[in-house]
Amino acid sequence: MTTPLPKAELHLHIEGTLEPELALALAARNGVELPYRSADELRAAYSFRDLQSFLDLYYALTAVLRTEQDFTDLADAYLARAARQGVRHAEIFFDPQAHTARGVDIHTVVAGLGRALDAAGERHGISTRLILSFLRDLSVQSALETLESARPYFGTLITAVGLDSAEAGNPPAKFQEVFALAREAGLRCVAHAGEEGPPEYVWEALDLLGVERIDHGIRSLEDGKLVERLRREQVPLTVCPLSNVRLRCVDRLEDHPLPRMLDAGLLVTVNSDDPSYFGGYVEDNFRAVTAALGLDEEQRRMLAANSFRAAFLDEPARAAYLAEVEAHRFG
Ligand code: HPA
Ligand code: ZN
Repeated sequence: MTTPLPKAELHLHIEGTLEPELALALAARNGVELPYRSADELRAAYSFRDLQSFLDLYYALTAVLRTEQDFTDLADAYLARAARQGVRHAEIFFDPQAHTARGVDIHTVVAGLGRALDAAGERHGISTRLILSFLRDLSVQSALETLESARPYFGTLITAVGLDSAEAGNPPAKFQEVFALAREAGLRCVAHAGEEGPPEYVWEALDLLGVERIDHGIRSLEDGKLVERLRREQVPLTVCPLSNVRLRCVDRLEDHPLPRMLDAGLLVTVNSDDPSYFGGYVEDNFRAVTAALGLDEEQRRMLAANSFRAAFLDEPARAAYLAEVEAHRFG
């Protein structure tokens, strides 16, 4: 196999990296009953009508994650795969409310993930950040409590906050107070917007939440003024092509708006979102768009460089990673 392009993964939900084999192993280890007997049976359930139908399975399977060790095993398995796909830096979302709602406390989750992330440089050659993501279909009060409970990790393990889960009917405006508090505490801010939701949600994420990156953002193309704003300010958009097809936000990969976004001068990156569920990790996404959309080598190099430009890195680290991208030879 040729060496994959060095890249940063900026849109990755750690719960979405739970492979069927690991889900079954953890279910057995923790005595959790699952309605699936084999990995193949579980994989067969990975057929989604929309975002919600995916989220239903994604939250149901978190039931197997119970101990600190489970979260360490989950993150270490992801990092090992990511390294083989050329990932040099990963900014990883986790959904604390998906666990606290089941009686697993946030300290178990963060300690477990933190153990894998702290070892990632040495074990896998990957630098990491952790992004606490709020579930937008839960209450503001729940988000505020979650933010408070994570305060011991601000600036150490937790670098940023995000916003995910069911988008329609849960506009960014709902979380204005939560994001204001996060910014006051020195955290960076990102939000999912314009995946299933309208361009107005992208405006709100920028203007009311003060986010530095938009996750997905593909529906921004429906609003010319928004495209102009995103281009002028070079707001990064973390696009997830295989996810968009699997969740039917885009009919076919051949119709994906990625080339139009690049042509519009937007700062686009390619990411995997929930790779266990959507048929591929980040290099798989690069390969799929290369085949379906005919991206050339310079466009792929640009997407990889964009991933480091959009990352929460200090400048010397960013420059070193960009030099790796520049030095890459396509095989
Ligand atoms: N969209 C919204 N919420 C999510 C996703 C997604 O693609 N993946 C995990 N939570
Ligand atoms: Zn996502």
